[in-house]
Amino acid sequence: MNVDDCKRVAAHNAADFVQPGMVVGLGTGSTAAFMIERLGERVAEGLDILAIPTSEESGRLARAAGIPLTSFADHQVLDIAIDGADEVERGTLHLIKGLGAALLREKIVAQASRRFVVIVDATKPVNQLGERAPVPVEVIPFGYEATANRLEKMGAGVIRPRRTLAGELLTTDNGNMILDCVFGPIQDVQALAAQIDGTVGVVEHGLFPNMATDVLVATEREVERWTP
Ligand code: A5P
Repeated sequence: MNVDDCKRVAAHNAADFVQPGMVVGLGTGSTAAFMIERLGERVAEGLDILAIPTSEESGRLARAAGIPLTSFADHQVLDIAIDGADEVERGTLHLIKGLGAALLREKIVAQASRRFVVIVDATKPVNQLGERAPVPVEVIPFGYEATANRLEKMGAGVIRPRRTLAGELLTTDNGNMILDCVFGPIQDVQALAAQIDGTVGVVEHGLFPNMATDVLVATEREVERWTP
């Protein structure tokens, strides 16, 4: 199995957690896309659910798959959210998310969900968060240079705002920018999260401590289910 096969297996396993009548949070990224596709098949077979997507892109995929959408106007509590991650710390299940630039809506949806199921392939688990992935931070465009300076003083390396593949400054679905912060391995995730939270200009960051209720890790041989 290649990485995509593993992502698909984890995604299909998680889609099986969804029961009739549930309100479901739909994550963003290539692994979540497999889950949306599978849920669409289950809806076509008669599964009755409503979903809230975590990005414009996932909303498009859900509509194309025939999944009925709802919003926080009608549902402030979700039964389950299923999403990918960029890193999962073994043991704690703390996450880094946001390489797909959807971290703000992803965190709102995850926090509003009774169950938050994370689906990854075997390249995502790490011993210490920050080993490989930067911490994406969503910031207000106004004064972002000053916000970046403050993050750099916290040890975030030299920050360049994220750009699109075409080289333009990336704008999130919320009209903000992403600053990718390279802290390296993070000793105290909750302390760093609190420090970034306290920075003026920051809207949200991609550290998700103590949020996952289940992590499904698909290897070539099996799907492991980790719980906190
Ligand atoms: C989106 O903003 C991210 O949080 C994604 O969940 C993350 O990048 C995982 O994406 P893949 O499933 O494509 O690896």
